[in-house]
Amino acid sequence: MNQTTKNTMINRLDSDVRKVSIERISSSLESEEDYELQDKAPSIRPSKFSEYPGQLEVKRNLQVYVEASKLRKKTLDHIILHGAPGLGKTTLANIVANELGVPFVSTSGPAIDKAGDLAGILTGLEPGTLLFIDEIHRLSIKVEEILYGAMEDFAIDLIVGQAASARSVRMEISPFTLVGATTRLSLLSRPLLSRFGIQERLEFYDSAALEEILTRSAGILDIELTPQGAAEIAKRSRGTPRLANRLLKRVGDFAAVAKKNSIDKDVAHLALLRQGVDDHGFDRVDRKILQIMQEQYSSGPVGIDALAASLHEDRATIEDVYEPYLVYRGFIARTPRGRVLTQIAEKYLSTSTFLS
Ligand SMILES: Nc1ncnc2c1ncn2[C@@H]1O[C@H](COP(=O)(O)OP(=O)(O)OP(=O)(O)O)[C@@H](O)[C@H]1O
Ligand SMILES: [Mg+2]
Repeated sequence: MNQTTKNTMINRLDSDVRKVSIERISSSLESEEDYELQDKAPSIRPSKFSEYPGQLEVKRNLQVYVEASKLRKKTLDHIILHGAPGLGKTTLANIVANELGVPFVSTSGPAIDKAGDLAGILTGLEPGTLLFIDEIHRLSIKVEEILYGAMEDFAIDLIVGQAASARSVRMEISPFTLVGATTRLSLLSRPLLSRFGIQERLEFYDSAALEEILTRSAGILDIELTPQGAAEIAKRSRGTPRLANRLLKRVGDFAAVAKKNSIDKDVAHLALLRQGVDDHGFDRVDRKILQIMQEQYSSGPVGIDALAASLHEDRATIEDVYEPYLVYRGFIARTPRGRVLTQIAEKYLSTSTFLS
């Protein structure tokens, strides 16, 4: 392809497709944290490794890769981050870009519905950019195919013209690092997964890490939090920083109305009880899941679809949000025949004062 054709193509992509993609990129910023950023409220999202407690192994690995990439002056290999919602995948992608000192461009699987959308984004990247694709398991196959060449050779193959005059043209793009995030690694296609040189899984956080996160957030939000108050909130945060931060804000509201200057153990305890969160961090839906499994399915095995129907909940919400933590805490076990309640769950159900 001659230079003029290439320029015309890039311009067309720039003016049409890219505009659409960028609009979608901005409209896909929909989490509570992103609104916070738009409101110019102080952000509690960490921007450096040193502000990101927990995930020690993942962090240690990424720090080495970032360091090596800087020393060798080579683009960092592509990274896939997977794990339950709210564990810090988006945050970590941001941190990696910051620590590398490269631009950060963010989009998501559902926001890119045409191959041209992705081509538009890729051709507009500055060299070294970290391109973050959230919910990467939701890319369509046509879009994925563009990504294969882009990841491997920093080039994209586009079909131009129609019918008999259609031909494939190859366009070089700037070297970049793709960071994909997903809550459902099993839904990622093999060819796509195999193109990520770095694959890291985020785990639920222990109490110590959550307490550190809560103390830092409280400082930024100007909320006084005692170590015992932090421990009380951490214990009920399902190992998840997003939930810990959210509970901190709600407990902070409660303390303000009760005219308490600081959040101590008692205030935290009372406020969380009012929120319907019990000692295990379980809420109404968790308890409902356990109860239904016991009462309607004789403690299992039960299939996920049957459970979703009984709960009137979406299957994906149960699989992504509720089940991972119940499995992690040993309340539910997954067997080839379906989910079963464990003895820990049976004991909880016979003793919890929270159940209706
Ligand atoms: N290790 C951490 N230290 C401090 N704050 C954290 C940490 N991990 C996550 N957070 C905070 O928790 C919130 C959720 O994190 P983030 O959006 O990165 O999660 P996620 O894994 O991308 O979730 P989702 O799967 O829903 O996209 C953010 O406000 C972030 O600031
Ligand atoms: Mg995210």
